[in-house]
Amino acid sequence: MVKRIKTGIIGLDELTEGGFPEGRSILLSGACGTGKTIFCAQYIYNGAVKYSEPGIYVTLDERPTLIRQDMQSFGWDFRKLEEENMIHLIDGSIAKIGIPSEEEFSLPATGFDLDKLLLEIMRVSKRTGAKRIAIDSVPSLGFNFKTEGEVRDAILKLGYILMRMGATSILTSEIKENEGTYSKYGVEEYVADSVIILSYQGLGMQSNRTLHVRKMRATKHSEKVHQIEITPKGIKVHETNEEYEHV
Ligand SMILES: Nc1ncnc2c1ncn2[C@@H]1O[C@H](COP(=O)(O)OP(=O)(O)OP(=O)(O)O)[C@@H](O)[C@H]1O
Ligand SMILES: [Mg+2]
Repeated sequence: MVKRIKTGIIGLDELTEGGFPEGRSILLSGACGTGKTIFCAQYIYNGAVKYSEPGIYVTLDERPTLIRQDMQSFGWDFRKLEEENMIHLIDGSIAKIGIPSEEEFSLPATGFDLDKLLLEIMRVSKRTGAKRIAIDSVPSLGFNFKTEGEVRDAILKLGYILMRMGATSILTSEIKENEGTYSKYGVEEYVADSVIILSYQGLGMQSNRTLHVRKMRATKHSEKVHQIEITPKGIKVHETNEEYEHV
């Protein structure tokens, strides 16, 4: 039996036989504003408060102070959980442009690279025994890479090291709507054991947000496109039903 890591996101674990298979990596892909950052934060937050599983959130796009602030609007107190050593935020958001971070866990401003990121993740993980890791986002790692081959090697290495650490990880990536790709570089989906696609279309007065489990190794999963909502308590996934199907 594969052990499951529950996301605790309402409606999601039911679609994947009870959660993500433990120790695997999940690619979470979607265009801008589809909810990737909220999803990652909810996964890490729920892990800490509902399942007593320590987590690491690596932020490569947004500043940690803004993430803490934004997540307060869902009632998620990251600061408190960081003080309790249940969540650690690693700041890689400004290192790549050469500005030092004021955060306790961060990447050095000189020579941002993947190895330094992995070392920092391992350092934090050794302290806390992190069971969950989110890396938001993978394209932001590619900042300094010159060739596609380098990007591919880096993503393979990232996937391998996360797997060795035994944590269940979410990696986010970007897709452009309607291009038929699942990730920015087109290799992330092969490295990840699972692929979840988020999408968002504003339709006049109505908005249409969806989630689709595109693949999940070691699991039977829903093959439907599910409507999702961003509620005051975070993301909620709906069963497809009449009320939502015609939207
Ligand atoms: N408190 C909230 N309540 C409802 N909806 C919200 C709330 N906060 C954000 N949103 C919605 O979620 C979107 C942002 O979600 P999020 O930052 O997770 O997207 P993302 O996929 O990470 O985007 P990006 O690719 O730009 O990083 C906003 O554009 C808004 O539509
Ligand atoms: Mg984001």
